[in-house]
Amino acid sequence: MRRSWCWCLVLAALAALFSGCSPAQTAKGDTYSGPGAAPADRAAGAKIFSNNCATCHGATGVEGGSVGPSLRRENERMDYSTLVSWIKDPAPPMPHLYPKVLTTREVEDVAAYVSTL
Ligand code: HEC
Repeated sequence: MRRSWCWCLVLAALAALFSGCSPAQTAKGDTYSGPGAAPADRAAGAKIFSNNCATCHGATGVEGGSVGPSLRRENERMDYSTLVSWIKDPAPPMPHLYPKVLTTREVEDVAAYVSTL
């Protein structure tokens, strides 16, 4: 009897310890993508856009290109995290640039750019 009481206390203490550790590390919906990562960088995203997306969506993305639609006010159609998922896994005919051409970080940066058009 005495013994099982002890175990209960030990388990409860362990559970309290573990649950106390996790919350601060990943807030839901944030863009954290590795140790020390800074928030997505819109200016870097603009460069990534002109190198990888402009051929289809037009020089800035606003005008649209012969292949891809204008991305003006894209933030009304997709929020930031939806944009990131789309760029990582788009529907054809848009090509998959991730992960062969763009890193996770670059996808986040270009999504930050597109969401301000
Ligand atoms: C080879 C041409 C091509 C390239 C390169 C390309 N796209 Fe696209 N993209 C398209 C086409 C075509 C669509 C429309 C697909 C559809 O609506 O089914 C599209 C759709 C999109 C959409 C959704 C538009 C909507 O209807 O809401 C976004 C956002 C987008 N592209 C962003 C990008 C970004 C950012 C890049 C560069 C990392 C990129 N695209 C590169 C052709 C391209």
